[in-house]
Amino acid sequence: MAGWWYLGGAFLLLFGILLAPYLYKINWIKDLRLEGKGKKVLANHLESKKRKLGKLPPVYPNGWFALLESSQLGRGQVKHVAALGQNFAVYRTDNGTVRILDAYCPHLGANMAEGGRVKGDCLECPFHGWQFRGSDGQCDHIPYADKIPHIARTKTWKCCEANEIIFVWYHAEGLEPHWEPQTINHVLNRTWRYQGRNEFLINCHIQEVAENGADSAHLSAVHGPAIFTKISRFLSSFARHQWSNVNWTPHNSFLESLSSKEGNESKKQNGENLRHRAYMTLRHRLILFEKFEVLHLDVNVQQIGPGYVELMMETSLGSMCIFQTVTPMEPLLQKVTHVMYSPPVLSPYASMLFLGECLMFERDVAIWNRKKFEKQPLLVKEDKSIIAYRRWYSQFYSQHSPSYHAAMKSLQW
Ligand SMILES: *[C@@H]1O[C@H](CO)[C@@H](O)[C@H](O)[C@H]1NC(C)=O
Ligand SMILES: *[C@@H]1O[C@H](CO)[C@@H](O)[C@H](O)[C@H]1NC(C)=O
Ligand SMILES: *[C@@H]1O[C@H](CO)[C@@H](O)[C@H](O)[C@H]1NC(C)=O
Ligand code: FES
Ligand SMILES: [Fe+2]
Repeated sequence: MAGWWYLGGAFLLLFGILLAPYLYKINWIKDLRLEGKGKKVLANHLESKKRKLGKLPPVYPNGWFALLESSQLGRGQVKHVAALGQNFAVYRTDNGTVRILDAYCPHLGANMAEGGRVKGDCLECPFHGWQFRGSDGQCDHIPYADKIPHIARTKTWKCCEANEIIFVWYHAEGLEPHWEPQTINHVLNRTWRYQGRNEFLINCHIQEVAENGADSAHLSAVHGPAIFTKISRFLSSFARHQWSNVNWTPHNSFLESLSSKEGNESKKQNGENLRHRAYMTLRHRLILFEKFEVLHLDVNVQQIGPGYVELMMETSLGSMCIFQTVTPMEPLLQKVTHVMYSPPVLSPYASMLFLGECLMFERDVAIWNRKKFEKQPLLVKEDKSIIAYRRWYSQFYSQHSPSYHAAMKSLQW
């Protein structure tokens, strides 16, 4: 008798797997941000009043941070983005170049991103029509004045576009970028296409999000139970996820192994340039009835700087990838987005994996939203890559990186 039940269950599961992506694409994946802005986030804010924060690292690390996706900014458009304790006016000129200026006009403080107009390389303030150059922030034109004071200028921000994401360079000491996110070839030559996106707001410190990559023990505890748990307890009783081959390596450990072997200077140089990267590999299996492996997936993760991750997924049907961005909107409010690309023929399969990824990620969010930052964690030997991760991440902090209290104060003034 039990055999029939299993068979029925397996059918339901298959049906679900085939159907879910279609339902999902319409209802959820592309609109996931609403989920983030609604009740859940509000509840988290209320809860956070009782929450202990812990002794936090600086709240805005140095590096490239995503502000918008390329598709959200057409030619001649300007958008206001508040992040990293700054107000950015992000605009795209008619030839496609993206420029970022301080949003507040130095004349009388109008927000140039709200109603400002793109004029050539300049952004024109909506209040009195002053125009500021995107290249250097210098005021180029005042419609009613004969002479432009040379001090009339606004701050510009370095930006770059990679994998159809617009990044801004933030550095507490004002240093120039020494690395940059790169567009991967499959996206550049359009062999992989956009398959969907999601967006979450999370109440935690930015460092916690990527720390999960170095924390292999959470995988079976948080991500072990099958993704259908919420849908049906019955279904989840015979499927589970298994994770193996997990390993986290910062780029500079390559560097150390090189310098121990008769240093090759040019390789060492390269190693130094890639210090902002860290790597993780893991294999994911979906196991049915503790026996059958129905899906397996090798994931190669590259953490690129403090707020950007590329996840390359090798499946039995082909490769695809997810880009994850983490941007501090406020000291303890992170905006996380995932954008998925795959070959067009794998679209349904990609949507299914993306759905699974969304559900898995929500489990992490539930932890992050309520945890405190533990500066001196009580670890066992098997947790050692967490220490390595924290040492690696500390390269993104510098002398003037803002503390939680300094950042909160500047928001309130
Ligand atoms: C667009 O124009 C700016 C200056 O106005 C120039 O620096 C940039 O290289 C141009 N970009 C393209 C793609 O032509
Ligand atoms: C696109 O780039 C990938 C990766 O370099 C390459 O394997 C593929 O052949 C390219 N496709 C086309 C159509 O150029
Ligand atoms: C060091 O490595 C680079 C690139 O791999 C190579 O071109 C160069 O010849 C090597 N130099 C020595 C001294 O081995
Ligand atoms: S406030 Fe911007 S031009 Fe006057
Ligand atoms: Fe996780």
